Amino acid sequence: MISVRNLTKRYAGHTAVDDISFEVDRGEIVGFLGPNGAGKSTTMRILTCYLSATQGAASVGGFDTFKDSIEVRKRIGYMPENVPLYDDMRVKEYLHFRAQLKGLRGRSARRAAGEAMDTCSLQDVRRKMIGTLSKGYRQRVGLADALVNKPELLILDEPTNGLDPNQIRQVRELIKHLGERHTILISTHILSEVEMTATRVIIIDKGRIKASDTPQNLIRRLHSSGTVHMEVKAKPKQVIEKIETLSDIKNAIHIGTSQGWSTIDVHAFSNVDIREQLSSLAQEQNWPLRELYRDTASLEDAFVDITRS
Ligand SMILES: Nc1ncnc2c1ncn2[C@@H]1O[C@H](COP(=O)(O)OP(=O)(O)O)[C@@H](O)[C@H]1O
Ligand SMILES: [Mg+2]
Repeated sequence: MISVRNLTKRYAGHTAVDDISFEVDRGEIVGFLGPNGAGKSTTMRILTCYLSATQGAASVGGFDTFKDSIEVRKRIGYMPENVPLYDDMRVKEYLHFRAQLKGLRGRSARRAAGEAMDTCSLQDVRRKMIGTLSKGYRQRVGLADALVNKPELLILDEPTNGLDPNQIRQVRELIKHLGERHTILISTHILSEVEMTATRVIIIDKGRIKASDTPQNLIRRLHSSGTVHMEVKAKPKQVIEKIETLSDIKNAIHIGTSQGWSTIDVHAFSNVDIREQLSSLAQEQNWPLRELYRDTASLEDAFVDITRS
């Protein structure tokens, strides 16, 4: 659906996108992640024909974004970083207008606007002026605009930017639902959102692609496998000595002791689950054990690991 080959974009001497290549297949939900200034919006603007590349090529559905921009735009619904909306239009009127601009006529334009309002839960505010809407509703009008002509591909640039946790949850559910029918390329800083919705993640940093894989694989590639927290009724020094004789253990750290219960954090080498070993050890040593749980690594840990260096 998307093919990007050796794409470079320079702004007056500054390279925003530096020789990147990637593909997105039909049906994928791809999280496009990176620190601020990494080149995400620039790449999205090139894909949506709003910007030309300095070098390289991009195509959508087999059409070149530079030479066949009309065909490309027909296939894309784009929600830019700052959604430009007409404040003095009513929601319904605006979406009808946008549907017409995208080539729908008469009854089908009206029906498309209605369906987009249904999908984005906008029916309650359909008669309201856009300028009077809250940020959450405005973002949803932007989404409804992007999908009003049922494009195959949605390109969403930080669609949850500025929303509160409830609104983020609603938009996340909506995107999951949209993913059943559309291919999606989405940029966001809310990594838990991507971890739950994306089939693949592309991480870009300083204009270069650093990783492209499923969220699960990126987490698995991390050099640590998280921390196991353990609380036992025993002398911490003795507990640590015993734990460090086990195989696969990187270290064990005494966090604190209260009323005889010692809290120990245990780190293992990557991809090893040491909980079973620890519980057997506690049993052997007759240490009363009241807590043993693993803090698993998250996509956020993987993101920090990949973009830190
Ligand atoms: N119109 C522009 N003129 C000059 N520099 C720009 C322009 N747009 C973006 N940049 C620069 O290009 C880099 C990438 O920006 P952008 O693609 O917006 O990153 P992101 O969306 O990942 O935050 C940044 O360093 C930014 O300052
Ligand atoms: Mg951006």
